[in-house]
Amino acid sequence: MKIAVLPGDGIGPEIVAQAVKVLKALDLDLELQEAPIGGAGYEAAGDPLPDATLKLAKEADAVLLGAVGDWKYDTLPRDKRPERGLLRIRKELNLFANLRPALLYPELASASTLKPEVVSGLDIMIVRELTGDIYFGQPRGISTLDNGEREGVNTMRYNESEIRRIAHVAFGIAQKRNKKVCSVDKANVLETTELWRQVMIEVAKEYPDVELSHMYVDNAAMQLIRAPKQFDVMVTGNIFGDILSDEASMLTGSIGMLPSASLDQGNKGMYEPSHGSAPDIAGQDVANPLATILSAAMMLRYTFNDEANASRVENAVKKALEQGYRTADIWTEGTSKVKCSEMGDAVVAAL
Ligand code: NAI
Ligand code: MG
Repeated sequence: MKIAVLPGDGIGPEIVAQAVKVLKALDLDLELQEAPIGGAGYEAAGDPLPDATLKLAKEADAVLLGAVGDWKYDTLPRDKRPERGLLRIRKELNLFANLRPALLYPELASASTLKPEVVSGLDIMIVRELTGDIYFGQPRGISTLDNGEREGVNTMRYNESEIRRIAHVAFGIAQKRNKKVCSVDKANVLETTELWRQVMIEVAKEYPDVELSHMYVDNAAMQLIRAPKQFDVMVTGNIFGDILSDEASMLTGSIGMLPSASLDQGNKGMYEPSHGSAPDIAGQDVANPLATILSAAMMLRYTFNDEANASRVENAVKKALEQGYRTADIWTEGTSKVKCSEMGDAVVAAL
């Protein structure tokens, strides 16, 4: 099992260290190799995605990533910014399918800002397309018009095959769950997403056992807060999925609980927490490492087909929560507040 470990910057190194600790406790045949990305890549090689890092990631079976984007890099030109390294590695590895499960652990029902009866039992899988849409569309940029006014342009674009392959991922996952797919678009006003809807309907014909519904993104944002348990699998484009999955994370108590898997056409994947580099708490050993640890579990499941060990890790996380361990973001009265590294230790002990 060749794993490229890319901690990144901000809280990245702290949380990745915990996931590595958990992986090493599993007694697997692992080959872990570390390389810099994001701000760390810029520091090491003047590039948020150094060539050697990309090479390592391409040769590995899976990539475990922390987060990128410390504020101190905000003044760099765009192509040197940490986030550009992330967009590039996703594109280079062709990681078009981003799976973001939003699952509420019963122990955290009171950590959510929503009423327990609204969120208890929540188990949604958000399938976000990751290599197309307005984040990658051309033309893009800020230019000055003839009248001297500045104009910003980004282009929303999807072609049929890009929509088709993410549709297959979503329907395939739904078949193993509760057999419901809700496709989220804005087909009433955006032609790109009108095509999205047409292709979803076509692909659905190949999955007669799965029920397909459609929802406009503004309504989906509302329904996630009003009645989130109506959803099983949600499939959507890159930008809508980015926003809706962050929203969904709040149903689970904290963005620090939300893992993700980004997959290519085969078994290769990049696994990272859904959150960013949290510069406001970086370097303090207080971040929640569970999203990263749960991402490592997804790696065992999706890249290495090791359901037994994936479940072991997930159960260890559950046990640590049952035992009352909480990082600051999920702490509530009557539980014990622990540091990032102590949470990692608690999960290893539970294993
Ligand atoms: P963020 O996710 O880094 O932080 C949002 C809020 O959640 C902050 O208050 C932060 O302290 C908290 N938070 C995030 N992860 C946490 C954890 N594990 N434990 C406890 N609290 C946690 O998003 P924000 O502030 O919008 O972005 C910060 C930087 O991260 C930006 O430069 C942004 O571009 C970058 N970013 C990187 C991503 C990535 O590496 N995949 C994704 C999103 C943002
Ligand atoms: Mg985001």
